Amino acid sequence: MAHALPPSPLAARAGRPLVGRIRVPGDKSISHRSLMFGAVTVGETRIDGLLEAEDVLGTATAMRALGATVTRDGDGRWRVTGLGVGGLLEPEGVLDFGNAGTGSRLAMGLIGGHAVAATFVGDASLSRRPMGRVLDPLRQMGVAVIARAGDRLPLTLKGPQTALPITYRVPMPSAQVKSAVLLAGLNAPGVTTVIEPVATRDHTERMLLGFGADLTVEIGAAGERIIRLTGRPELKPQTIVVPGDPSSAAFAVVAGLIVPGSDVTIENVLLNPLRTGLFTTLIEMGADLTIENPRRSGGEEVGDVRVRASRLTGVVVPPERAPSMIDEYPILAVAAAFAQGPTVMEGLEELRVKESDRLAAVARGLAANGVEAREGESSLTVLGRGTGPIGGGTVVTDLDHRIAMAFLVLGLAADRPVTIDDSAVMATSFPSFRSLMEGLGGEFADA
Ligand code: S3P
Repeated sequence: MAHALPPSPLAARAGRPLVGRIRVPGDKSISHRSLMFGAVTVGETRIDGLLEAEDVLGTATAMRALGATVTRDGDGRWRVTGLGVGGLLEPEGVLDFGNAGTGSRLAMGLIGGHAVAATFVGDASLSRRPMGRVLDPLRQMGVAVIARAGDRLPLTLKGPQTALPITYRVPMPSAQVKSAVLLAGLNAPGVTTVIEPVATRDHTERMLLGFGADLTVEIGAAGERIIRLTGRPELKPQTIVVPGDPSSAAFAVVAGLIVPGSDVTIENVLLNPLRTGLFTTLIEMGADLTIENPRRSGGEEVGDVRVRASRLTGVVVPPERAPSMIDEYPILAVAAAFAQGPTVMEGLEELRVKESDRLAAVARGLAANGVEAREGESSLTVLGRGTGPIGGGTVVTDLDHRIAMAFLVLGLAADRPVTIDDSAVMATSFPSFRSLMEGLGGEFADA
């Protein structure tokens, strides 16, 4: 895992325009879920386009430890032969989720619904992230937890003989919490209900339906989503084609907008409306961003995203848009650094508990590179292009892949090179970032 290696600094600098067509790796959210749902399905689930990055490979290893057979063909197709709902076995060793919040939290739900014990460990970043948000509902379902103060990793779960189906109102906008409760509910007799006051990415719901689960989504009087899952379904093996990850495409999209003269197309990007808040915001800022070849694939909207270098203007990003672009604020802040006038981002409290405190990390990285920004408790204002030069700084990535990639993109358009202190962290979600960006004309140098 990245954290075990010595840091490998990397610098990015401005050069020629970025031009060309690329495909980014598969969506991380769908990749984790494909492996987990396959593990509780009798028969062989096939997955094309799985994200082969540390976070997801950690989930594959965990599913093997729980008794599923997970293999990769020479042509890159993955196969998961599962054990059926309720069939997971007790793992012998600890489950190491590395840097992966999604992998660990969804697995807590999946395993919590089984009468097995499992110990979860992770890297320094994952070990400081709050797990109580998942453990609280799981305790209500009968799961026993041994954790250190503050409900952080390392921790051990023991699922009950029979999990209790509950009704749970998710207190923060989090697809991970929603999904953990639903996955535990898979093996609970009866109906598990999750109420989401604010809609978050809905891959769990869509994919469970695809696997044949009895699941309904109703919109309540106050606009909340009420998700009901009937436990103990017999899931049917699927063939899944994972589209490109919009959260990875985001880096190439913003680079294409801020590097003068660029024209970049990212093919086959997932365009689920609960994931596309960044693209909406960039268009509001004046981006020349178009969707070509829109189509449906595997129950999801996908398309090719084309961007051409644009003059951007600062905007106010409404807080209610945050769940649909929660992973994209670091790269939006970079776009905002090149915009005319301030960009105001609000409703960002969840950014404080990501792989790093992303609000603080973004503000620090911008300051180190001559970009004026104001960090609030749950807001960030980037003042836009001033008169001074941008770049020249070193950014502390703090085990956060998205901080690393966002600031390398800053460097591709800055007046002076930008250095990140550790590029190894990019392997968690986007190992081919550097080579894909170099293919478009981006210039990087080991520092
Ligand atoms: C994810 C949910 C989000 C997101 C993460 C992936 C998922 O986390 O940040 O990268 O796949 O469910 P939260 O649920 O903590 O918002």
